[in-house]
Amino acid sequence: MGSGLAGHIAKKHDVIIGSRDPARARAAASHVDGATGASYKEAAEGCDVAVIAVPYSAVKSLAEVSEELGGDLVISMVNPLRLGDGLREYGLKSGSAAEEVAAALHKSRVATAFNNIPPSLFRMKELPEVDTLVAADERSTYEEAAAVARCVPGIRPLYAGPLKEARTIEEITPLMLNLAQLNRTGSLAPRFVSAGSRA
Ligand SMILES: NC(=O)c1ccc[n+]([C@@H]2O[C@H](COP(=O)([O-])OP(=O)(O)OC[C@H]3O[C@@H](n4cnc5c(N)ncnc54)[C@H](OP(=O)(O)O)[C@@H]3O)[C@@H](O)[C@H]2O)c1
Repeated sequence: MGSGLAGHIAKKHDVIIGSRDPARARAAASHVDGATGASYKEAAEGCDVAVIAVPYSAVKSLAEVSEELGGDLVISMVNPLRLGDGLREYGLKSGSAAEEVAAALHKSRVATAFNNIPPSLFRMKELPEVDTLVAADERSTYEEAAAVARCVPGIRPLYAGPLKEARTIEEITPLMLNLAQLNRTGSLAPRFVSAGSRA
């Protein structure tokens, strides 16, 4: 997800791909025009906007870069998933990954976005029109995250309300993965259509 998104953002902005292993980050960046690779700490120090594209199990370790990301916009795309009875399930009893990101990075402005976008979409030659649901406590934080989402052609950001709504957004991902598996559709991405004016 991180490298795929970086490929689009790097067309408009400088991008640093972070990794636990800087050599691995540089190798990933060598496939993305306009991107460089660095350790997580260096990437956190050098950025204004951080996109968190690591597994849920790594969220707690974000506290190690809370100073470096202080004052920055942070976008979580993290989905806490587990495998149930042959299907994916949402992994948290309460709260959301994005709220845990915000707790670890209490000096940053945190939004969630891209949760329901499959990585295959970033590699498509003709990108379809899809929606990404964005939650953030402040409307201004949503606007900043929406500008990042619009770096990917075809993606329309929709404001979903405060960060506590992240749970509902993250929960859509196991549903979408299960829909794709049960109906053999290939990867799915959401698109909401207008159904007339408000009553
Ligand atoms: N795949 C999807 O369909 C999809 C869609 C939307 C959102 N998401 C969410 O987006 C995030 C990234 O998904 P992904 O499929 O790209 O994940 P991934 O390939 O499993 O992991 C992404 C990167 O995270 C780093 N990482 C792994 N374990 C780590 C740890 N313990 N501490 C720090 N870094 C660690 C690894 O980089 P290094 O080894 O180089 O450090 C790895 O390349 C996940 O939270 C996922 O839930 C996924």
